[in-house]
Amino acid sequence: MSQPHVLDLFRLDGRVALITGGSRGLGKSIALGFAQAGATCVLAGRDAAVASASASELSAASGQTCHPCVADVTDEADVARMVEWTLTKCGRLDILVNSAGINIRHPIEEFALAEFQRVVETNLTGTWLACRAVAAHFKAQGSGSVINLGSALSAVGLAERSAYCSSKAAVIGLTKTLALEWAGSGARCNAICPGPFLTEMNLPLLEQPERAAAVVGLTALNRWAELPEIRGAALYLASDAASYVTGTTLFVDGGWTAR
Ligand SMILES: NC(=O)c1ccc[n+]([C@@H]2O[C@H](COP(=O)([O-])OP(=O)(O)OC[C@H]3O[C@@H](n4cnc5c(N)ncnc54)[C@H](OP(=O)(O)O)[C@@H]3O)[C@@H](O)[C@H]2O)c1
Repeated sequence: MSQPHVLDLFRLDGRVALITGGSRGLGKSIALGFAQAGATCVLAGRDAAVASASASELSAASGQTCHPCVADVTDEADVARMVEWTLTKCGRLDILVNSAGINIRHPIEEFALAEFQRVVETNLTGTWLACRAVAAHFKAQGSGSVINLGSALSAVGLAERSAYCSSKAAVIGLTKTLALEWAGSGARCNAICPGPFLTEMNLPLLEQPERAAAVVGLTALNRWAELPEIRGAALYLASDAASYVTGTTLFVDGGWTAR
């Protein structure tokens, strides 16, 4: 019996990936990896100009088609429209990456309820809404891979991140639950938990170098991650190389949680 070459298991030719938060940061880096592996990518975000520029940049860099899609993951109707739009425009949907996320940092007594809710609505509710929007399609299709972005802070706490840590810990619960709910349907659900990457999310930290150094010092590798360092984990979980992998959490955290 002929077996596929191991490297072919990582190809995404003919597949369509929808990446929330694909317009910037980790989502954009993941999208480039998917496009280089042969996928058509849809990059979603709230800022139309940024999403368009990123889609053009990734199309040129990869030779694959990348579409921008304007959507707010905290808006139920917007999320449904985003998934429907992808299916209509691209004719199929195989991979969902939930990378849209925000962070607000304060001691808990200085947190406004609205700030806490904004973080949870983006990081957790937005992820839940997008998972719900693809569920019936993936089950009917008999295949599909969801990758939710957690964080090293899904597993450990960090002062002044009560909203972020709560939301990211919950993403792991959601991921495991959907893996069980979808088991046997062909749809898989996994999470990636990154350590510190120098994206716009972390720019406020750079204004206080000693705080930035303290965060980076929590990693065993004692450095910021480079944006391409997220791509291998995402491509693995999205692809047939991970066909027996569901409900797992892959830490790409420079050894933060090894301590
Ligand atoms: N960077 C890190 O060190 C790190 C570490 C661990 C985990 N993570 C997680 O990785 C994911 C990506 O983070 P990042 O560092 O790439 O952040 P980023 O550079 O700030 O990018 C965030 C992305 O999410 C989109 N976004 C934010 N709110 C949205 C909303 N309501 N609806 C739709 N899109 C929204 C942004 O586009 P618009 O603003 O245009 O909407 C942007 O594309 C997040 O879930 C984050 O928590 C990051």
